[in-house]
This record gives sequence, structure tokens and C-alpha cells, in this order.
Amino acid sequence: MSEKLELAEKRMAEIQARISSSEEQKKLLPRFHFSSPCGWINDPNGFCFFGGEFHLFAQWHPFSTRWGPMHWCHASSKNLVKWKTLPPAIAPDSEADSEGCFSGSAVEHCGKLFIAYTGVSKKSDSTIQNQCVAFFDGKKFTKPNFNPILTASEIPFEYETEHFRDPKIWRDGEKFFLAAVLKKKDGRGALVVFESADFEKWNFLGIADEEKTSQSTMWECPDIFSLGGKRVFILSPQEMQAEKKGGFNKGNNTVYLLGEFKKDECKFVRENPDFTMLDLGMDFYAAQTMQDFSGRRIMIAWMQNWDSCNTPKNYLWSGMMTFPRELKIENGKLIQTPVREIENFYGKEIAGKITGEKIFSLRHCALKLKIIPKSGSREILNVKIGGKKQFALFEFDGEKMELAFNRENTIEGGGAMNKKSICVALDEKGELNLLCLIDTSSLEIFINGGEKVFTNNFFISSEENSLAISSTFFNAVEFSLNEIL
Ligand code: FRU
Repeated sequence: MSEKLELAEKRMAEIQARISSSEEQKKLLPRFHFSSPCGWINDPNGFCFFGGEFHLFAQWHPFSTRWGPMHWCHASSKNLVKWKTLPPAIAPDSEADSEGCFSGSAVEHCGKLFIAYTGVSKKSDSTIQNQCVAFFDGKKFTKPNFNPILTASEIPFEYETEHFRDPKIWRDGEKFFLAAVLKKKDGRGALVVFESADFEKWNFLGIADEEKTSQSTMWECPDIFSLGGKRVFILSPQEMQAEKKGGFNKGNNTVYLLGEFKKDECKFVRENPDFTMLDLGMDFYAAQTMQDFSGRRIMIAWMQNWDSCNTPKNYLWSGMMTFPRELKIENGKLIQTPVREIENFYGKEIAGKITGEKIFSLRHCALKLKIIPKSGSREILNVKIGGKKQFALFEFDGEKMELAFNRENTIEGGGAMNKKSICVALDEKGELNLLCLIDTSSLEIFINGGEKVFTNNFFISSEENSLAISSTFFNAVEFSLNEIL
């Protein structure tokens, strides 16, 4: 094991011991979301099923709760609900990745897990991003001496050598494919694709898609996969303009495009030219998917965003992932639902109708709400998570058909972006159905069976544990509530 990896492991053990010996620190942890084992995490990496378990890696800086030289932390899970921390995977300890091991993905081959990631290094004064691999045999990670497998000299001249990153690999028949993002010298993002028969030699196939308008600049963290007879292309574009009502956030967003990938021409042909936000909230970025043994396409994302990082100072870690979501295409739309494994962790159900106010004492739960608005009247449903001093609030206004989230009354007021409202629509039965996953400091709202999702974090004191639901709806709102054990 390299010295850097050893230091990271030592640091992780120290912080984990501090967390497990402090009642206060333990209360800050999410109960059913993956969170950083120590220090900072951002993007999910290498999400896969290997050796009978799900594996998840993440961009990781063990030595502070801020971004720094990137390592990969590692965890496994049998059920996608509870995660086990494993020894750190890789550290920036070789010539090709001396400045950081950036995002990437994993694929199983010949009984081993092949990990492709971006090695960042320095040449004279400039930064270079190249693609590297590491192999995991179930116990340890090895970086082969043929790294880097792809250097920036293999990309067309119009693209910058310091922005070539985030390889997503997949297998198609006998071949491996690798899609990565690039930045054109005019500042716009693009998707480049390579193929290989052995993981060592890669051929440039072409530029499959690129930003042709001025709606974004660099793209990050691509994923491209087949689903329901279409190709889905997920990307995280930067420097976007905010949309007026509930659309794109200012800065970084994660979006998707539906279309077809024409392998022979290496072109992603968009069905519709416009980006669609994958999640309408303020805390969702760098989504990555995997296909499990039963064929489900499962997505996980960093439940934060570069524009909304605001972990409180007393935390020994920063960063969580969303709850894993199953993706489907229904009626031409991408639908997201929490993986069904969550139901195995449901506690006893409380169900009923809300007239006036109901108060529960819960911070880890699945809350289902069925709302049937009466047209022409001003009706409001209000859900307050927390207590008197610190709380997060979400509100559904049945007249405006708006769902609003507000975290102004949380620690540090939720940072620069502290509220957002989005437009929603009733389903064909005239109902609005919400499934809310609440876990210590996060709220994911799946709207009408997952047609839209609204994900936001909030940091409040661990003492503030109430969940108050109040309604002025003429038709009593039906609810069911299960603690997640
Ligand atoms: C996205 C990103 C990636 C990069 C990584 C570095 O959040 O900027 O493009 O690989 O984070 O941590």
C-alpha cells in the first residue's frame, strides 16, 4: 500500500472512531443514505454490482471537509440502503495521477473490477487530465504500469488538454466503450467516445455530442445507457443561467437527453434538442447509473452541488449521496422511484387524514401524501421538519400549483441558495401524490410516481426532531408515514 493510501486509511480510522464515540456526532449521520466516512466527498464513482454486493466509490478528500487532492473512498451494500465502509480504494500516488484521482466508473471483466478514472498531473505549469485504470480483485486495488490508457494527445486539437475527464465505461458485445467529457477551446462542452478490446489500447471513435448553444459551458460526469428502447445521456453542464420558475439553477445542473447512439458514426442523435433537469432541487449533481443483475437501471447522485455546499462547521464529514433510484421510461418520459429495497426497512405504518395539524417526532422516514385540490380555492399544505428555531419547510399551494422548499431557518441559513419553488401538475385522477424521503438533513420528494423529483438538504440541530404537517385543504389530505429503521 502506498504511503498516501495508508495516511488516508489512518485518517479515516481516526475520524470514524471520533464519530462512533460521540452521541452528538452519531445523530448527525443519515440513516439510509451513503455519506462520507470522513472528510469531503463529491461525485459518486464506480457504482456497480461486483462479488455479490453493490459497490460505491466517491470523490474523496479525507483530510478536511473541503475539496482537496482527490482520492476514492469505497463502500459496499447488500441492499442499497445500508452501506459498509471499506478500506480506501485509490490515492493520488502515481505519476499519472499525482494531483488527483478524479471521477470515473467501473465494469467487471475476467472476475476483476476494472476502474477507469481521470488521473490529474502537472506538466511544467499546466494541468493535464488523462484517463487511467485500476483493477480490484475483491481485496486490493492495483494500478497497472501501462497507465495512462488515454492521454490528451489523443483528443482533437480544438479541445483543451486540461479538461478531458470523467470516463464512463461500458461493455457492448466483445468491446469496451469509454465516454468522457471535453472542453472546446471556445469554452463549450463535448462528449468524446473511445473503444477498446482489451482495456489497454483505445481507439478514438469521435465526438458524439457537443454544446451548440450558449446555455452551458463545460460538461461534467457523462453517463450513457439504453433504457426502454432509447438511449439516455446524462450530463452535468456548468455555468447555466437560472430559469425563472423552478427550472435550471444558476451554475451547475444535472440534465438528461433522450435519443439514439449511432455507434458507426459515433453520434448521439437527440430526440429533442433541449436539456431536461434530472432533479429539480438545489442538491443534485454528477449522477451515475449501473445496471443490476435483474436488469434494473439504478441511479445515484451527489446530494449537494458546487453552488450549495454548506455543511456546518461541527461536522467531521461533508457530502451524502441521494437514495438510489430506479429509472424507467414511461410514455416517453424518464421516471425515477426509490429502489424498492427501502420498504424492507419500513417500521410500523401510521396512516390517516390530515385536517388541521398533526405533529410527529421523526427525522428518518418515508412520508406519503395524497392531495386532491378543490378548484378555485386557496389551499395550502405545509410540512415543517425540525423545531421552533431551526427547521426546513415545504409547502404545496393548491391554487398556484407550486411546491416550495425553504431552508432559511437552518444553520447558516442554507447558504446562498436557500429556497426554490417548482410547478407541479395533478395526475390523470386529479391528485397530487408525493413520496417524501426524510433522512436527518435531506428531503427527496418524488412527485406523482417519480415524474419529477425535488431534492434539497437542510442542516438543523440534531435536537430538533419534529415533523409537523398542516393542511387547509377542503378534501382531507391522506397520509402514511413509516420510520426507516
Ligand atoms: C464534478 C467534478 C468532475 C471531476 C470531479 C473532481 O463534480 O468536477 O468533473 O472529475 O468533480 O472532484
